[in-house]
Amino acid sequence: MSPTDRPDRELIDALEAAHYHPLWTRYRAITPMKPAARDNPMLWRWRDFAPFTERAAREVPIEDVERRAIILAHPAFGGATVTTANLIAAFTILEPGDHAVPHRHTTAAIRFGTRAAGAVTLVNGRRCAMNEGDLVLTPPMCWHGHINEGRERTVWFDAANIPFICGMDANFFEPGSRGDTAFWKVDEGDERLYTGSGLEALRDEPHGLQGHSPKFHYPGDVTRRLLDAMPRAADGQRSLRYTNPETGGPVMATLDCQYTRLVAGATTRARRATHNAVCLVVSGDGYSEVGDERIEWHQHDVFTVPHWTLAAHTARSAEADLFIVSDRPVFEALGLLRVEFE
Ligand SMILES: [Fe+2]
Repeated sequence: MSPTDRPDRELIDALEAAHYHPLWTRYRAITPMKPAARDNPMLWRWRDFAPFTERAAREVPIEDVERRAIILAHPAFGGATVTTANLIAAFTILEPGDHAVPHRHTTAAIRFGTRAAGAVTLVNGRRCAMNEGDLVLTPPMCWHGHINEGRERTVWFDAANIPFICGMDANFFEPGSRGDTAFWKVDEGDERLYTGSGLEALRDEPHGLQGHSPKFHYPGDVTRRLLDAMPRAADGQRSLRYTNPETGGPVMATLDCQYTRLVAGATTRARRATHNAVCLVVSGDGYSEVGDERIEWHQHDVFTVPHWTLAAHTARSAEADLFIVSDRPVFEALGLLRVEFE
């Protein structure tokens, strides 16, 4: 029945004029049968992006250096700064000596070292190195700043849940002071408390859980050592999850980080989930079947796995490593996590 020849047309018109919506004409639109991502899977190739790192380093004015990050923006979001639903991914470029002035915000963010040896991220008074494969958390409302102390340009991968926090209109941002020299004069501080896996400092005082990991720095060499020791799953992959050592849960209340090592000749089980993911190719070559698309990827490429989209990954090189960041904990906390295997 078309909307115009309904017997209740006059009632519907009267309701709408009085700011009511009858459910019987709208239930299909407001209760879809299943999730439908706005975005198709998308690949950003490092080889296409690399020239922009050079240009950004040369052309960005000095007053904007502290924000010299380039965000991967999917055109499906109509010009909004979104990589896939709820998430952004970016690369930050610092020249030797460049500082990114400290600040803090309610957005949750992570950095992952790709070509960043020599750079340091300071988080709540702790120095965190950014060597190859290092993960650094900058949890909500933790002060953070960055500096390139090396002699080469540094580039690292960033991810954050800015679109999610903006969608909730829960953004708070506090700038730090450019002249705060004490901010930079710290060592690794309490990060030393969390370097021994399975070991925890005993405290007499109870300490409240903060909704994020108390450990901010997950060194790449530790990650790789664990992967080398892990047995392969039935589909050939070795996957680990970065955890909050106090809870065994995700590193932050709204972001989850995972690292997967693929082996040539084996394809991971096709899987879809209600959460969204961004994949950084840490090393190796391969391809992923995501939805209807085949994505061929190489080192430091980035691609997305939008929610409720089947994804399977295959290495072409002997091994290939993916770092995967997702908004899974949000769905887990709200009872909305659903995962299916094909
Ligand atoms: Fe920040």
